[in-house]
Amino acid sequence: MAESCPLPKLNAASFRAVAQLVFEHTGIRLTPGKEYFVMSRLGNLLRETGCSRWEDLPAAILRAGARAVDGLVQAVLTLETSFFRDGRPFRALREVLVPELVRQGPAPYPLRIWSAGCSTGQEPYSIVMCLGDLLDRGRIRLDLLATDLSPLALHRAREGVYEPWELDRGLDGEARARYFDRLGHGRARIRPEVRRWVRFRRHNLVTAPPPERGFDVVFCRNVGIYFGPETLGRLHRNLAAALRPGGVLVLGAGETVSPTVPGLRAEYPNRALVYRYTAEDLP
Ligand SMILES: C[S@@+](CC[C@H](N)C(=O)[O-])C[C@H]1O[C@@H](n2cnc3c(N)ncnc32)[C@H](O)[C@@H]1O
Repeated sequence: MAESCPLPKLNAASFRAVAQLVFEHTGIRLTPGKEYFVMSRLGNLLRETGCSRWEDLPAAILRAGARAVDGLVQAVLTLETSFFRDGRPFRALREVLVPELVRQGPAPYPLRIWSAGCSTGQEPYSIVMCLGDLLDRGRIRLDLLATDLSPLALHRAREGVYEPWELDRGLDGEARARYFDRLGHGRARIRPEVRRWVRFRRHNLVTAPPPERGFDVVFCRNVGIYFGPETLGRLHRNLAAALRPGGVLVLGAGETVSPTVPGLRAEYPNRALVYRYTAEDLP
């Protein structure tokens, strides 16, 4: 099918079949009403696989193997992010949560953080930048794992090169000058001294158990908003299991943990909502 050809009609049965495939590989729940989303995001994949009908797409993708599944996954993921997104969690980390650990723990405190669903890297790099002077003064050591399902997002995150409009979202002039090298045309690359603290890795939060455990802090922001209640409950249980007792889970603004997930208690450091993992709540 040529690119200019109009796409075939997506009927209810084909929509359900495509939605089921998307759900199995990403946890994302596409409910009726999202037909336009499917057609706009997966139209190219339909053409590339040579299918002339939507109902043939799931089988064609599975037949074509891992690369085609990756194409599907990539097409439906939303990578929207920005530096210091929503502000408060980063201030809470810097001003309350980390100082609390530094007071209690060995010096320098070996801080372990997981940025789960890190997209193109703005979240983990914001974490490093907000802890910058504690790192410079040797008050903490940092082990920051950053994971995502999207190969494209991880490639960009590892590269750490950002367009002017991305740098404009959340960074002031001081942070740009201190943590980025200019590349021309308004683009800039995160400096190696920030990049070196982050380990990037591909991980599916829905189909796999936590890649590591014992984290002091887990950020998983604006990932669960695309999931249904059952998948969300499983995600939050997995995130709790990745924390050490006393560790803290940070979700996106407006996201909450279901009360049915044991062991996570809401706290409000610096007016940011976070969840502390308290093993004594467990059945
Ligand atoms: C909207 S972005 C949020 C990025 C960042 N956490 C923030 O708040 O700015 C959601 C990210 O979750 C990732 N994601 C979605 N489903 C996922 C899954 N099942 N496993 C791992 N990552 C997933 C997407 O690839 C995307 O990068």
